[in-house]
Amino acid sequence: MSDPTTEAASPANDDNPAVRRLADWDADRLQAIAREHDTPLYVVDLDRVRENCARLRDAFPDADVRYAVKAHTGQAVLETVREAGLDAECASAGELDRVLAAGFPGDRVHYTAVNPPARDLDYAVSAWNEEPGLTVTVGAADTLDRLAERGYDGRVCVRVNPGVGAGHHEKVRTGADVKFGVPYDRATQVVREADERFEVVGIHAHAGSGIDAGQLDSHRELVSRMGDLARSLVTPDDAGAATDDAAATTDDAEPVDLEYVDVGGGFGVPYEESDPPLDLAAVADATRSALGPVPRVDGDGTEVTLAVEPGRYVVADAGLLLTRVNTVKPTAEETVVGVDAGMTDLLRPAMYDAYHPIRNLSGGDRDEIPVTVAGPICESADVFSTKRPLATPERGDVLAIGIAGAYGYEMASQYNSRPRPAEVALEDDDARVVRRRETLADLTEVER
Ligand code: LLP
Repeated sequence: MSDPTTEAASPANDDNPAVRRLADWDADRLQAIAREHDTPLYVVDLDRVRENCARLRDAFPDADVRYAVKAHTGQAVLETVREAGLDAECASAGELDRVLAAGFPGDRVHYTAVNPPARDLDYAVSAWNEEPGLTVTVGAADTLDRLAERGYDGRVCVRVNPGVGAGHHEKVRTGADVKFGVPYDRATQVVREADERFEVVGIHAHAGSGIDAGQLDSHRELVSRMGDLARSLVTPDDAGAATDDAAATTDDAEPVDLEYVDVGGGFGVPYEESDPPLDLAAVADATRSALGPVPRVDGDGTEVTLAVEPGRYVVADAGLLLTRVNTVKPTAEETVVGVDAGMTDLLRPAMYDAYHPIRNLSGGDRDEIPVTVAGPICESADVFSTKRPLATPERGDVLAIGIAGAYGYEMASQYNSRPRPAEVALEDDDARVVRRRETLADLTEVER
């Protein structure tokens, strides 16, 4: 559970705005950092990570807030999030290894196993032997059998496919995708059977990633379905609790002592300058009222805890990618600006047609012209913007690509035999390298 000893969080205010836009960053400082550490270069501001954690804890004071570490697994970020009191949600053995190394105790670690490779399950079970407070979230009955075969009888959460998806792109709407979770109409049975062999502590669902205010109805629908399912599990004799067959119960069923209902992450961030920030308080209110009361079994009137697991929201606006202009090519309709970062450094535009704001830090008060910002990879998808107004770029200018702290470095690759960029972390007035730039030698290091 989230660390209750951490200082109370502060609400969004002038010192902690709901979003940090690209225009809010200090252009001179960023240019100096680019000169010192070269480009392409990721920058992550740990103070902003801390602010984002604080706003989440403030909006969900009674909930367990779990950082989905897949958004950014850098050690400095993980340590900051741990100190800020959030739990960690992991998707692989590698992520588990990283959060344990960052000092998260087992009872703040949640491993969501999606078709887990044997190697990952082996790792999770050995980690559990050391840290028995760890929880494994499973999305298939098969995974329960595979855990039992390895001697695991610890804490289990059952991931349910809620049949409701949402998110910024069809590729990230997991909630309606059969790949994820036990089908809703089988969930009751799977949970009950699991409870005979393991300590079932929760149920889980995740609608998708990048949910904006316009998709809150889907979020509400998911949460309400999870509330119904939870009530039917904790009070199986209460005929009124289940609202449909999916949550229906069998005769003589034992109540399942759920600790929490995890309704996933997916809180969107405003990538476009004109997008409003998410009203976190409104999302929290909608979540709580859609869930409704779920009593703890033998809990003296206490309630099952709500859990949320945002990734993007914690780090997106805390990070950006600095890149230098190397080629300026006028064409009839636009100017193509070649930069030294590409889809290997920031994949989101190529993969999801995602919008990231771009600012010419060296542009001063030059006129804006329509430019296409393109990387050095031999693929047409390797562009960061098309015909977008930008202060007239010149060779050597430094551009900042904003809201790149989430799923930025994490999805970077060495395609085209490109070493991955370095990363600098900011904290107060300090700037330190937290990931060194890869070298050409790193590219061939694993070859035999
Ligand atoms: N929980 C689970 C089980 C998840 O699968 C995810 C994200 C999250 C939480 C956190 O979602 P978030 O709050 O970050 O939206 N690469 C894509 C995003 C894929 C997210 C996958 N799962 C992107 O760059 O937009």
